[in-house]
Order: sequence, then C-alpha cells, then structure tokens
Amino acid sequence: MPGRATTPSTEAQRVTSINITNASKVFESWDGEEIVALEDISLDIKENEFVSLVGPSGCGKSTMLRLLAGLILPTGGAVEIDGTPVKEPRKDTGIVFQQATLLPWKTILDNVLFPLSVMKEMKPDSEQIARDLLILAGLGGFEKKYPDELSGGMQQRAAICRALVHDPEILLMDEPFGALDALTREEMSLELLRIWTERPKTIVFVTHSITEAVLMSDRVVVMSARPGRIMEIIDVPIDRPRTFEVEASNDFQKCAQRIRYLITGK
Ligand SMILES: Nc1ncnc2c1ncn2[C@@H]1O[C@H](COP(=O)(O)OP(=O)(O)OP(=O)(O)O)[C@@H](O)[C@H]1O
Ligand SMILES: [Mg+2]
Repeated sequence: MPGRATTPSTEAQRVTSINITNASKVFESWDGEEIVALEDISLDIKENEFVSLVGPSGCGKSTMLRLLAGLILPTGGAVEIDGTPVKEPRKDTGIVFQQATLLPWKTILDNVLFPLSVMKEMKPDSEQIARDLLILAGLGGFEKKYPDELSGGMQQRAAICRALVHDPEILLMDEPFGALDALTREEMSLELLRIWTERPKTIVFVTHSITEAVLMSDRVVVMSARPGRIMEIIDVPIDRPRTFEVEASNDFQKCAQRIRYLITGK
C-alpha cells in the first residue's frame, strides 16, 4: 500500500483478504416481484486495505456490506473471506450500520462491551478498552447514560466504538458519519484514519461524500444505479498520513472529479 505510515501487522493469523466473485443478490418483495439489488459484482480487497463504496441511493451498497457481514447470502456467485464462503457473521468482523442500533436498556458502556459479552470474550482489560474508545470518540463522561439520553450523532459515535471494541480485522461501515455535523464528521474521519494506521484492518466504508471517500481510501468503488454493478474502481494515489490539506492537490481533485462524473454524468 503506497505511503502507509506503519507496516501492516505481521501476525500470521491476521490475514484477511476479501474476494467477491460474480456475486449477485436478488430480493423477492412481498408481492413476488424480484428486485435485483446487485448484479455480477467482482471485487478483491487486500488485507488492511481501505476501500470505499459510493453510488446513488438504492444501488446496493448496504446490501454489499450485509453480504460481507454474513447477514444475508448471495443469490449467485461467491463472497469469501480468506477463501472461506461467508455464511454467517464472523468474530473477526465489526459492523457499523446506517442507524446506530444501540440497545436502549443498556448503558453506553455496556452497549460498547456488548459484542464481547455475546462472544464470551470479556477480558480483564475490556472495560478499560471500551472506556478509552469512548473518550477517543468524545463520549467520556457518558459511559453510564442510556442511548436515548444522547443525540443521534453521539449514539452513532458509540456504535462506532462498539464495532471497534474487539479490534476486528475487518471493519464494515455503512455511512457511519451520516448523522454527524460537518465538523465532528471531519474529526471522526481523521480519527478513524489514525486508528486504522495504528491498528491496521481491512475497512469497507460506504459514504455519500465523494471527498470523504477520496480522503480516506486506497480505492473507491463507484457503483451504478439499480441493478447495482461496479462502474469503475478508482485508485487514490495520495501518500499517507493524509490531512485535509491533500484535498487541494491535483491528484485529489482528479479522483473526485472522475467519481463525480461517473455518478452524475457531469
Ligand atoms: N430485504 C430486502 N427486501 C427487498 N428489497 C430489498 C431488501 N434490502 C434491500 N432491498 C432493495 O435492494 C436495493 C438496494 O438496497 P440497499 O439498501 O443496498 O441500497 P443502498 O445503496 O445502501 O442505498 P442508500 O444509499 O439509500 O442507503 C434497493 O432497491 C432496495 O429496495
Ligand atoms: Mg444503504
């Protein structure tokens, strides 16, 4: 990966490549109509790569993440992680949904710890890890609050902490910053890049923001309207670590313009 600030982890078990081969997903609606959400998707994602998915509403971005998360199965083709078909949620995967989906009866701290308690992987230092993540996300002091005592953006930040608490090798993020105000959104995007540099992981990131996609990603996958297909994959040839200053560079502008053209035709 060009310009990575740190070398990726060399631990033997942390090998996580994603291979999607000619995958399709057809949903059947309640009246029997077939909805082709994804058609003939082929995409290989390398270990520790940061890949964004962009495209018009309804083009199948969330469907693609749900396939990778093992929440749904493809109707055709294959979705594999390390050569194994993804048939159910995996322990090495974390997911941030479009909505925060916190458990309303649990405190923020217990929500963040929830994946560890479900997986029976609570360790002596787990609570401290969760507390540190909450501080990182600007939620220090809110550990004992309940979700409905937090704003939508704060809930979403807690959901991001929850996805990170078991330090997953693969992080699937569905418009994670959609509910945040512009400034917090920028801060969180740099924070995510920092976390990713310190603890390398494979990230598949859905966003509607072209600049966010270019700023964060090694590659941006541009999808077409339904049925969702891959139109083009854009390499982002910008060194890391990146700050907002790179947005003024020629390479950044070229990537953003190409993506905009593919999506809007302008
Ligand atoms: N469970 C389902 N049953 C039937 N159709 C579905 C189901 N889930 C998704 N779809 C359809 O599949 C298509 C893709 O949906 P998806 O949610 O993946 O789009 P998206 O790219 O994430 O859109 P957005 O940007 O608005 O979040 C849509 O036409 C949607 O109606
Ligand atoms: Mg979606």
